[in-house]
Amino acid sequence: MSFTFKNFPADRDDLRSDVLAGLAACPKSIPPKYFYDEAGCRLFESICAQPEYVLTRTEGALLRARLGDIAAAIGAVDCIVEPGAGECAKVRLLLQALHPSHLVVLDIAGGPLAAAAESLSRDHPGLAVTALGMDFIRDLDAAAPHLPEGRRLIYYPGSSIGNFAPDAAATLLTRFRRLAGTAGQLLIGFDLKKDPLQLHAAYNDAAGVTAAFNLNLLERLNRELDADFDTSRFRHYAFYNPTAGRIEMHLASLAAQDVSVAGQRFHFALGETLHTENSYKFRRDEFSAIATNAGWPLKAEWELDGFAVQLYGNVD
Ligand code: AVJ
Repeated sequence: MSFTFKNFPADRDDLRSDVLAGLAACPKSIPPKYFYDEAGCRLFESICAQPEYVLTRTEGALLRARLGDIAAAIGAVDCIVEPGAGECAKVRLLLQALHPSHLVVLDIAGGPLAAAAESLSRDHPGLAVTALGMDFIRDLDAAAPHLPEGRRLIYYPGSSIGNFAPDAAATLLTRFRRLAGTAGQLLIGFDLKKDPLQLHAAYNDAAGVTAAFNLNLLERLNRELDADFDTSRFRHYAFYNPTAGRIEMHLASLAAQDVSVAGQRFHFALGETLHTENSYKFRRDEFSAIATNAGWPLKAEWELDGFAVQLYGNVD
């Protein structure tokens, strides 16, 4: 068994400059990667267990039902690389089917990642596990020196790609291609376009966990950037935008108010929103057009109950 953890620092400065820039912009926005402090990671795990948020369970059911086909289509791999691995739960199924010698997991939340990856490595004697605490959206190339040679599979499940607008998704997929190498493959899961009311319910769960996840961003800024957001004066507001094909999450100001963040003041008008997340939904052909343009030929695909998994790589 071997376990290695490396944390790439510098995120405090990025948080500060990204948040100040996002609050100064019109409309106001903050990148969703900043949801994931320790409290945010816990709230996200809880979202995945809510009855309305079927995405995670559907993807799990799809992988379990089709694991044999999926493993056969992938063939032999030496290394699985999972960006945004979080609690490293999803990759366990793939490890059983593919038996790679190396696993490299990446996440912006370095602390929770290290704990999850170490526990996974205890369960897999013989697997070399490397955990990289890094903002891979900003600096994926920094991961390259930590990957072993050999056949690489990039695993990007959970519709994480849905956080990116088509152009940005194409950029990230191009970087994945460079990291995987020309012989590499990509196994990616994404949420499909479906009944808007079903989507609406998934991002407005009755227990209020998604609302707490969204509002935790303001609490994080209070904790880490010396901000003074009064969370009782902001409301979680999530809806499906059918023109853009995405769920939008916002925090709506319930009053005209001034907020101070890292020594700077920002004004919110009554009803003005801070846009905190986009979750794009795709058709399978829409998504494969983006990936193909980013240099990934489609090899195989699977679908279950409004969720899709696609495998990309050279058809040999
Ligand atoms: C982790 C980006 C896939 O967009 O569904 C869940 C995050 N936000 N509920 C998603 C999220 C609100 C999630 N992704």
